[in-house]
Amino acid sequence: MIEYFRDIINKYLIGLKRKTNKYNTYLDYVNHQLEKTTDKKRIDKWMNEEWNIKYNGFIDIFQRNMKFIYKCKSAICLGARTGQEVKALIDLGIDAYGIDLKEFPPYTVKGDIHDLAAESESFDLVFSNILDHSLFPELMISEIERILVPKGILIIHLQLLVDHDEYTVTRLYNVKKLLKMFRTLKVVANKNIKNLHDCMDREIVLEKVSNL
Ligand SMILES: C[S@@+](CC[C@H](N)C(=O)[O-])C[C@H]1O[C@@H](n2cnc3c(N)ncnc32)[C@H](O)[C@@H]1O
Repeated sequence: MIEYFRDIINKYLIGLKRKTNKYNTYLDYVNHQLEKTTDKKRIDKWMNEEWNIKYNGFIDIFQRNMKFIYKCKSAICLGARTGQEVKALIDLGIDAYGIDLKEFPPYTVKGDIHDLAAESESFDLVFSNILDHSLFPELMISEIERILVPKGILIIHLQLLVDHDEYTVTRLYNVKKLLKMFRTLKVVANKNIKNLHDCMDREIVLEKVSNL
């Protein structure tokens, strides 16, 4: 019964539903995510046959958002895995690196989206397409707000319509409610997208407007 009401509250009032009961400890969550990210066969695919497809996809994403990011000099990609999004930013002239639960040199260092090692106000741009892999989205969002400089830009990609895989831990239902969680960022673009290289279907660009 309590579960039922918690689900209703999460889905309709908060706009997302967490699979917190799926894990007994935080380490269980991390290990589950790492199961996929450290899978050698998958890594081989990401690094070889999928590399260019993804790289070109990310070039397209950042180029179409150039009007928001042309002033950005430094960027961090959260949950960057093998780092195609990072390489795309570097090739477009932005000093970037990624973080993920597993490091993938040279583009991605080890880190956790819920506890970023970065200094406050140290990045002009944050990119992430893994909000649905966050066990504590409010924490991830507050970390993003902390590390962005004033007027810094956040680009997030969400998967709202397509079925999620077993590594998704937070199911997003309601973008409006999700956006209410951002306290210092305002939305400057919000549109449906169809990427060639992944299943993300919503792109939201936000700008940091205050330091609460
Ligand atoms: C669907 S993949 C996306 C990878 C990459 N952004 C891309 O589009 O190719 C999700 C990634 O999020 C990472 N991840 C999940 N939970 C994380 C956490 N708490 N901190 C950092 N990375 C995390 C996983 O290890 C995985 O590499």
